[in-house]
Amino acid sequence: MLAAYAVSQSASDPLSGLEVGERPDPQARDGWVVVDVRTCALNHHDVWSLRGVGLAADRLPMVLGCDAAGIDPDGNEVLIHAVIPSDGWNGDETLDPRRTLLSELHDGTLATKVAVPRTNLVPKPAELSWEQAACLPTAWLTAYRMLFTNSQVQPGGTVLVQGAAGGVATALVQLGAAAGIRVWVTSRDEAKGEQAVALGADRAFASGQRLPERVDAVMETVGAATWSHSVNALRPGGTIVISGATSGDAPAKAELTKIFFKQLRVIGSTMGTRDELQKLANFVVAQGIEPLIDSVVPLADARDGFAKMVDGQVTGKVVFAA
Ligand SMILES: NC(=O)c1ccc[n+]([C@@H]2O[C@H](COP(=O)([O-])OP(=O)(O)OC[C@H]3O[C@@H](n4cnc5c(N)ncnc54)[C@H](OP(=O)(O)O)[C@@H]3O)[C@@H](O)[C@H]2O)c1
Repeated sequence: MLAAYAVSQSASDPLSGLEVGERPDPQARDGWVVVDVRTCALNHHDVWSLRGVGLAADRLPMVLGCDAAGIDPDGNEVLIHAVIPSDGWNGDETLDPRRTLLSELHDGTLATKVAVPRTNLVPKPAELSWEQAACLPTAWLTAYRMLFTNSQVQPGGTVLVQGAAGGVATALVQLGAAAGIRVWVTSRDEAKGEQAVALGADRAFASGQRLPERVDAVMETVGAATWSHSVNALRPGGTIVISGATSGDAPAKAELTKIFFKQLRVIGSTMGTRDELQKLANFVVAQGIEPLIDSVVPLADARDGFAKMVDGQVTGKVVFAA
C-alpha cells in the first residue's frame, strides 16, 4: 500500500525522516478490521513524530497519521477514532495510562489502508464530504473536548483562542461560534486573524496584544510563546485549557503567582473519547459546519503538506486523498 511514514527522526529537520512510498498491507488482529482509506489528514502530531517527540525510535519505520475516513470491510462509510485503549480498559480511553494514538504503537492513517479496533469506527455522516470527514478525529475532536467538556464556558461567554490558523484553532473558532460563544483569537499574521473573523470569530488580535476585557477561558495550544499572555488574559477564576505546546513547553515565565492569586484553573486536555467523536459529528452536521480545509493533496505528494505545516503556513486542515 502507499503510505507516508517515518524512517528516522530529527528535531531540527523533521522532513529528513519522512518517506512516501510502498509499505506492506496491514493485517487485522482479533477484533480489528482493515479500513480502505478514502481521505486522511495531517496534524502537528505527525511533525512531532518526525522530530522524535512521542514516538520511540525503536518503533520505526512507522506509518504516520491519526485522521482518516474510509470504508470498512462491510461497506460502511466510517470515521476512524485514533485513541487506542489497552486490552481490557473500561471507561474514558483518554485516561488509560497505556493508551496510544494511531502512529505511536500501531501504524497510522496516512496510507491507503489502516487496521483499527472495530470499536474505534464511527459512522461517517452522509452530509459530510470525504475531505470534511477526515478533519474530525484529531484536531476537531481535541477542540470539542477543550471547549465543551473542559472549559466550562457557557453560550454567551468569551473564549480566547491562542493562534488563529491551525487545525485545532480553526476548529475552536468554528465550534465555539456555532455554540454561541464569543470567540477571540490571536495570530502572528493579520491576514490569518481576518480569516478567523470570517470563520466566525468575534475579534482578532496580534499575538500578545492587550485585550479590551478579560476572558472566561483561554484555549492554549501554542505554549511557551503565548503562556504569559494566556494567564494575563483571564478573569479571576477563569480557565486555561491546554492541549499543545507548538512553540515549546518551557515558558520564560510560568506565572505561578498570578495563577494562584487569580485562582485560575489549568486543565490539560488530550484528544477525546469515541462518544465525543460521535457527538462532534452530530454537532457539525446539525449546525451545518464546514471544517476549514487548507488544501487537498494526493497522498503521493504528502511531503508538500508536511513542508507547509513545518513552515507555519497552514490555514485549517491539510487533507490527503488516498
Ligand atoms: N493533546 C492533543 O490531543 C492534541 C491534539 C491536536 C493537537 N495538539 C497539539 O496542538 C498544537 C496545534 O496542533 P495543530 O495540528 O492545530 O497544528 P497547526 O495546524 O500546525 O497549528 C499551529 C498553530 O500554532 C499557532 N502559533 C502561534 N504562535 C506560534 C509560534 N510562535 N510557533 C508556532 N505556532 C504558533 C498558529 O497560529 P498562527 O499561525 O495563526 O499564528 C497555529 O494556530 C500542536 O502542538 C499539537 O501537537 C494536541
